Amino acid sequence: MLTVLGIAALVGSLGLREAVAAEPPLPIPASQLRSGIAFAGGDVRALQADVAANPAQLWIEQGRQWWSTRPAQGGGAPARACLDCHGPPEALRGVAASFPRLHGSTGRLFNLEDQIRHCRAERQGQAAWAFESDELLGTALLVTQASEGLPLPSGIAPELRPHFEAGQALYRQRQGQLNLACTHCHDWKWGQRFHTDPLSQGHPNAYPVYRLEWQKPGSLERRLRSCYFGVRAEIPPWGDLSMRQLALYLRWRGQGLPIEVPAVRK
Ligand code: HEC
Ligand code: HEC
Repeated sequence: MLTVLGIAALVGSLGLREAVAAEPPLPIPASQLRSGIAFAGGDVRALQADVAANPAQLWIEQGRQWWSTRPAQGGGAPARACLDCHGPPEALRGVAASFPRLHGSTGRLFNLEDQIRHCRAERQGQAAWAFESDELLGTALLVTQASEGLPLPSGIAPELRPHFEAGQALYRQRQGQLNLACTHCHDWKWGQRFHTDPLSQGHPNAYPVYRLEWQKPGSLERRLRSCYFGVRAEIPPWGDLSMRQLALYLRWRGQGLPIEVPAVRK
């Protein structure tokens, strides 16, 4: 016979299991999910489709060189190249889709750029590449291209749950002088026009992306900063945890969309 305490424990553990397993309903059902390229103009779509003309190729080619370059270290033997430890970039197929994730030794929520900067500093003994530098974007594009066509994964690992919740809360929170949340534009208004351009569903599957307005590739973090700017909100500092939590929520929200890199945006 179950004691009162036993029943309480049973209910408690069932409740807990449910809390861990339950995921909120997807804001945009799978049948309606559309990559950002579907909302782009014909010229942008053509540029993305033409592999040779896609300007991001330039950065990918540079990324390939950095991948195999052994950086000089004051006097001694050069440090190992990315290639020496990781093999060819193609060997990292699937890796880009696994970010944001918790980094083992630091316990921090890393995006791909954080991981590369970490390897640059800790494994190669160099100054970490600056955010949005050609080196960082080139290698990030190279690693992400290795996952081309793979779907954004579903599910939230239990250890990521607090970060997911934080990202979701941020996604729904009104911000800035325009007092708008991400959800207002990208869940409620996609397909409608914002100023002159159609609003997309705000997915992360094409990042880093070559943006014509920037005249260079940029990270998802840079894109999110543009959205903060767009609603006249205070922009968090580079590398801020909140941007990684948002990225984690976006990945979950866009689950099933294929990774499209290199991509182009206006
Ligand atoms: C006032 C409307 C508005 C708000 C609010 C807004 N965005 Fe955006 N967002 C845009 C516009 C405009 C673009 C560029 C065109 C497009 O892709 O929709 C964009 C683009 C994006 C993209 C890139 C999509 C792609 O395929 O290139 C992502 C990701 C994104 N937003 C996420 C967010 C997140 C996360 C928030 C909340 C922090 C947010 N946005 C808030 C208007 C908004
Ligand atoms: C001396 C060996 C070494 C070098 C050189 C190195 N890394 Fe790493 N890298 C690691 C180790 C070890 C890990 C996993 C543990 C960690 O993150 O610290 C890792 C993890 C990664 C991951 C995640 C891999 C996965 O399978 O999930 C990526 C991506 C990555 N490194 C990119 C780079 C890039 C880009 C460079 C060159 C700029 C580089 N690494 C240089 C050792 C190295």
